[in-house]
Amino acid sequence: MADHATDRRTAIAEVAPGIHRLSSYHEPWRSSINGYLLTGTEPTLISTGMRSHFDDTWNAIARVLDPSTLRWIVILHFEADECGALNEFLARAPHAETLASMRAAMASLADFAVRPVRGVGDGEAIAAGERTLRVIDAPYVHAWDGIMLVEERTQIAFTGDLFLQPGHLDAIIRDDRSSLSVQLYRTFYGTPPEVPLQRVLDRVEASAPTLLAPGHGSVLAGNLAPYYRAYRQSVSALAALRPLAEGTRPRRSVDDDASPRAPSLNRERD
Ligand SMILES: [Fe+2]
Ligand SMILES: [Fe+2]
Repeated sequence: MADHATDRRTAIAEVAPGIHRLSSYHEPWRSSINGYLLTGTEPTLISTGMRSHFDDTWNAIARVLDPSTLRWIVILHFEADECGALNEFLARAPHAETLASMRAAMASLADFAVRPVRGVGDGEAIAAGERTLRVIDAPYVHAWDGIMLVEERTQIAFTGDLFLQPGHLDAIIRDDRSSLSVQLYRTFYGTPPEVPLQRVLDRVEASAPTLLAPGHGSVLAGNLAPYYRAYRQSVSALAALRPLAEGTRPRRSVDDDASPRAPSLNRERD
């Protein structure tokens, strides 16, 4: 779990054997943008980070291995912080192949990327040398084209923008920041749709992760149950409120007809 090095903008820290968190602080978001480097015979990068952070990210990887030997680049969804630097990596890592969800590959990366991108499906096992990354399809949990990954040897779940938190300094935390995580998630992304979120939480929890490795903030260790619970409760509470809100809509009354203020609006509601 040693820190390899930290420079001004991009830090790299080993969070499990051969698995390194790359973290570039992004001031506007008051959080890190994380990528993950998996060493081995087929070095793998999960998320490239932004194009504007490319040089720092490349240099940080170079402290662990030669970045030009990258074999796989996995994009968890199509956004600038996930894949903005993809083409810079492809230009300098000639053997690197890009993997993403079918949706991201067909709708966005087929045009954006300078080399072909392979779409991966739900449950697919990505063989990356001695490592296997299991794909969890996660549409609409954050982005419509999202996937998550579980590395089968270490049981680390790479969850993209689920389980994010503010801050950037700690590579791993063990204290419970689940409320803060849910708050930030909903502030950034609005209300998640319940069914896709519950389904993905089921899948992630069933994989019994040892660590949750999100795209922003620290890697989460220790008791992870509060995170699953907090995210479940956030959508369950909203679901419980929905019929209540509908039941408390203003009802048409005798006064409505006498009111000079938009009587037709009240009639429409009835
Ligand atoms: Fe995102
Ligand atoms: Fe993100």
